[in-house]
Amino acid sequence: MRGRYKILVYGCQMNIADAERMEGQLQGAGYERTEEMETADVILINTCCVRETAEDKVYGKIGEIKKIKEKNPKLIFGIAGCMAQKEGDNLMRRAPHIDFVLGTGKVQELARIVAEIEAEHSPVVDVTLADKTIAENLPVARGGKFSAWVPIMYGCNNYCTYCIVPYVRGRERSRAPEEIVAEVRRAVAEGYTEVTLLGQNVNSYGKDHKQADFADLLRMVDEVEGIRRVRFMTSHPKDISDKLIDTIKNGQHICEHIHLPVQYGSNRILKAMNRVYTVEKYRERAQRVREALPNASLTTDLIVGFPGETDEDFAEMLAFLREMRYDSAYTFLYSKRSGTPAATMECQVSDDVKHARLNALMEEQNAISRAINDRLRGATLEVMVEGASKNDPTVWSGRTRTNKIVLFPHGAECEGDFVQVKITQPQTWVLKGEIIS
Ligand code: SAH
Ligand code: SF4
Ligand code: F3S
Repeated sequence: MRGRYKILVYGCQMNIADAERMEGQLQGAGYERTEEMETADVILINTCCVRETAEDKVYGKIGEIKKIKEKNPKLIFGIAGCMAQKEGDNLMRRAPHIDFVLGTGKVQELARIVAEIEAEHSPVVDVTLADKTIAENLPVARGGKFSAWVPIMYGCNNYCTYCIVPYVRGRERSRAPEEIVAEVRRAVAEGYTEVTLLGQNVNSYGKDHKQADFADLLRMVDEVEGIRRVRFMTSHPKDISDKLIDTIKNGQHICEHIHLPVQYGSNRILKAMNRVYTVEKYRERAQRVREALPNASLTTDLIVGFPGETDEDFAEMLAFLREMRYDSAYTFLYSKRSGTPAATMECQVSDDVKHARLNALMEEQNAISRAINDRLRGATLEVMVEGASKNDPTVWSGRTRTNKIVLFPHGAECEGDFVQVKITQPQTWVLKGEIIS
């Protein structure tokens, strides 16, 4: 063993997937995982900067690790991910106990850089944004035992005016379909039965290499022998095509859950956000999804407090929410990201107003989620057992194909099993039930 490592991950699933590839490299280089930062030889934070709160958390951790490094000066401490990309060597100026800063396009360089620092003890900053080449065949140390994250593309071309992601993740690059299918096959051979295909906007998959579009890719993955569940995120409403909806409908293992972030419910704000679709276009696409897939769950992301948002806009947003009836929604307070167009827009909304609107939105959505789940009382659903519930070890937690969490008392089944569960107590965020044989 060469030493011990600890990786902390913030942000989205893409960051988890990247961290699994960094972890794979460290294991390949002879490092072993530890849960305790005090005994680690390498600590890495894979960071997120999508909102200010995400960055604040990371700065807090960087401060904590300063004390650990004082006690263990040999510790190699690095920052990777989106904040590393955004801040570069600023991070080191602010916190000189950082040994390396690794950009989002440099995941594949981790093992080499750690070895370099071990040998030479001089700091390294590499935040060159990724070019068109995609590093393939990286070792992956997956966190889950039955569910695997599989990135299908990197970057984003959409430049929504509030969002930092295109600046820190670069232009869209799609992996070759045969690479993705090969990765899914390997995962299945290792015992994984569920895969989630990841991208900032999966519907744009393949627009760069034209070897397959997202619908084609979904079909290929669906046909991999042994796969039980195929999930994907995130879909952008602007290009969710009929072909894609039909592929989901005709697929065998493609889960009936579509995360389709609307972000806002008024045309004026959607335009200012550069989301490219209108409320009418979104409504038409959502209706097409619901007609083709009546049992599908539809979830969304919403931002309140975008610059210039008025009471009228917000009233439209609430009305749209009531109309759409999402199964669930992630709701965010708009966070100003410097360098994005929205950061310099006039009429920034005050914190008090933002919070009041967020509360009103959450209250509305919670009532909707509750009512939708209530209709599942008495239903029998296929659940994949994911592990013990956090609050009660005698209770299993699992998920339906529609991505709803189900809690039920232990029987003879094991983690990773697929079971039929009768829903007896639907709640706002979880469904409680009992297993039926
Ligand atoms: N590519 C995905 C999501 C990327 S970030 C998509 O387009 O849907 C995840 C979510 O964070 C976004 O959907 C958006 O709702 C939210 N978000 C992004 N930038 C934000 C900001 N500046 N302030 C608040 N929320 C933001
Ligand atoms: Fe950000 Fe928009 Fe790209 Fe999503 S689609 S990552 S919100 S710029
Ligand atoms: Fe955050 Fe980067 Fe994901 S900014 S949300 S970790 S793409």
